[in-house]
Amino acid sequence: MTTTLITGIGELALPSPSFLSTGAGASTGAGSDGSRFTGTRPTVELRRDAAIVVEDGLVAWVGDASSAPAADERVDVEGRAVIPGFVDSHSHLVFAGDRADEFEARMAGRRYEAGGIRRTVSATRQATDEQLRTGVQHHVRQMHAQGTTTVEIKSGYGLTVNDERRSLAIAREFTDETTYLGAHVVPAEYTDRRDDYVTLVAGEMLERAAPHARWIDVFIEDGAFTVDEARHILTAGIRKGLGARVHAGQLGLSDGVRLAVELGAASVDHCTFLSDADIEALTASADEGASTSEAATTGEGTGSNAPTVATLLPGAEFSTRQPYPNARRLIDAGVTVALASDCNPGSSYTSSLAFCMAVAVRDMGMTPAEALWASTSGGAAALRRTDVGHLSVGARADLVVLDAPSFLHLAYRPGVPLVSRVIGGAKSVAN
Ligand code: NIG
Ligand code: FE
Repeated sequence: MTTTLITGIGELALPSPSFLSTGAGASTGAGSDGSRFTGTRPTVELRRDAAIVVEDGLVAWVGDASSAPAADERVDVEGRAVIPGFVDSHSHLVFAGDRADEFEARMAGRRYEAGGIRRTVSATRQATDEQLRTGVQHHVRQMHAQGTTTVEIKSGYGLTVNDERRSLAIAREFTDETTYLGAHVVPAEYTDRRDDYVTLVAGEMLERAAPHARWIDVFIEDGAFTVDEARHILTAGIRKGLGARVHAGQLGLSDGVRLAVELGAASVDHCTFLSDADIEALTASADEGASTSEAATTGEGTGSNAPTVATLLPGAEFSTRQPYPNARRLIDAGVTVALASDCNPGSSYTSSLAFCMAVAVRDMGMTPAEALWASTSGGAAALRRTDVGHLSVGARADLVVLDAPSFLHLAYRPGVPLVSRVIGGAKSVAN
C-alpha cells in the first residue's frame, strides 16, 4: 500500500469531530463502532508547519512536519493552508432548466414563493436521463473544484413515481447521500387532490424511491406540506429504513422544527425563523440525543446522543432577499449548526461553501472558525457521518489545499477562487 506524506502545510485547520470516540474507538479515531454523536462545541485547532500521512485514502498520521515519518511519496504544499474537504449536506442537483428570470424579479422586489418549484418540475420531467445525468455531473464537478468532497443530493423535481425514482438513481451514481424528496410541493395535477398525493408519496412512490435513497425529506411550509402531512410521510420513510431530514422555518415560523426533533431527524434545514421553543428543542436534542427513535439508528456510527443539526443555508437568503438566520443564537444555545449550499435553480443557485462561509461570518454572527466547522464537521453531523468533515487519524483523507496562508481567507476574500488542489472526494465527485 502506498503512503503519501503531505508536508509544508503552513496552517493545518483541524475542526473538532462532531462525535466522541469511546472505548477501543478512542485510539483509532473515526468510524469506530464506539463513536457517539454529541453536541460538541465547534472548535478548530490550527497547527503551523504541519504534515499529514495518507495511506489507502485515509489519514494515517498528523503532526509536525519536522517529525513526519518516511513515506513512499511526498507532496510539498509550500506553506499553503489545508482544510478538510467541505461536506455539503443539502443540495437539489437533479433538475433541468434554470429560473434566472425569477431571481431578477426578486431583486426588483418580488417575494420568493415555493410555487416556482413547479416550473423546474415541468422542465425536469421533460429531460432525458442523459440530460439529467450530465447536469448533475456538471454541478458535482464544480462543487469538487471548489473544495466539496462529500455531497448530499435530493430528488424533488420529478414528483411522479418514475421521475422520483430516476432522479434518485441518477443522484446515486454520484453520492451515497441521496434523499427522497417526493414531498417537495404538491404537483399541479394533484392540486385538488392533495390527500391522494400524500398517500402516493408515502406509498408507491416511497416503495420505488427507497432502494436508491438513504434519507427522506419533507418541505414543511405554507404552499408545500403541513406538519401532519410531514409526520405521515416521514414516519412511512423511517419505517422503510430511511433516515429523516426536514426543510422547515424557511419562510415563516413552523412546528416543523419540533417535529424534526421529535422524529430524531438528523437535520432540520433552513431554520431562518425559529421560536424560543424550537431552539430549546434543538438544544435538548444535542443534550439528550434522539436515542429512542428509529431514525437515530440509521447510518454509520450513530446510535444514542445524535442531535438534530440545524443546517443553515445562506445562499437561499441571499437569493431570496430574506433575513439571514441567526447562527449566533443557535451556537450560544448549544445547538449543532451546519452550513450547506442548498444548490438549486430556484432559491439558491450557488455551489460554493466558501461563499456560504463568507456570508455566515459577515451577516450571521459566526466566527470564521465556526463557519469552517459548520461546513465540514457540522455537515458530517447532519449526515451522521464519522468518517468525513475532520482529519483525525482514521478519517477519510479528503483535503483541500488553499492558495492562501490561512483558512481565514475563505471568508476574508469572498468570490476569489482560493482552492489550489483537492485530494480525495466521494465516489464519482472527482471523476
Ligand atoms: O431548499 N425550500 C424548498 N426547496 C428549495 C427551493 C427549491 C426551488 O425553489 O426550486 C430550497 O430552498
Ligand atoms: Fe432545499
